[in-house]
Amino acid sequence: MRLDKYISSVTDLSRMQVKRALKSAEVTVNGEVVKEPRTAVSADDEVMFNGELLREAKPRYFMLNKPEGYVCASKDRLNMTVLELLDEDNLESLHVAGRLDIDTTGLVLLTDDGQWSHKITSPNNHCEKTYYVETADPIAPELVELFREGVKLKGELKPTRPAQLDIIHEQAARLSVSEGKYHQVKRMFAYAGNHVELLHRERIGGIVLDERLEPGEYRPLTEQEIALS
Ligand code: URA
Repeated sequence: MRLDKYISSVTDLSRMQVKRALKSAEVTVNGEVVKEPRTAVSADDEVMFNGELLREAKPRYFMLNKPEGYVCASKDRLNMTVLELLDEDNLESLHVAGRLDIDTTGLVLLTDDGQWSHKITSPNNHCEKTYYVETADPIAPELVELFREGVKLKGELKPTRPAQLDIIHEQAARLSVSEGKYHQVKRMFAYAGNHVELLHRERIGGIVLDERLEPGEYRPLTEQEIALS
């Protein structure tokens, strides 16, 4: 990574302040004063600013209220990505912990801590997620039992794990699933001959979408939320 980028990613300094610090010989790399912002540095280099060793920033954790029309990917040629909604340095080090479809809204977690996101996304951990769902047709009450027992989706070897369906009214429900098969919620309703018209994720494990976040807004997770995953 470029030295100037590295310094601004691990400190609170603005790009301009980093430039000035470099110019006035306040930065050393492995004991040598370096003034060139484009100097390449790696994790093995000892970068010091004003005599203080700079370390990789603490891991970052954010929750975002994803609006429709954004993809959960780091790059996309056609669509805007959820990362574009974040006003943070070093965006390329962040990734999504549990994707949503382009037309699904709600809770998305972003982090640069791979071990933490693994706990959420690993199929072995059965992290539970809750979705608010609206459907084209009335939701048959028998679906509560059907989804509890599990359904065998097309192309899958095993039935879905037991899921909890709470019908709110004729065409709206909450569904909690503890796995993350491709288009899982839409496919479960399609299996039952219904169509998901609106899908909004409200919860991942113990982390609940902050209702003060408007679509497109985000905030860091609290220490408590980080521990809840
Ligand atoms: N299930 C779906 O069908 N889509 C999502 O985005 C999330 C869960």
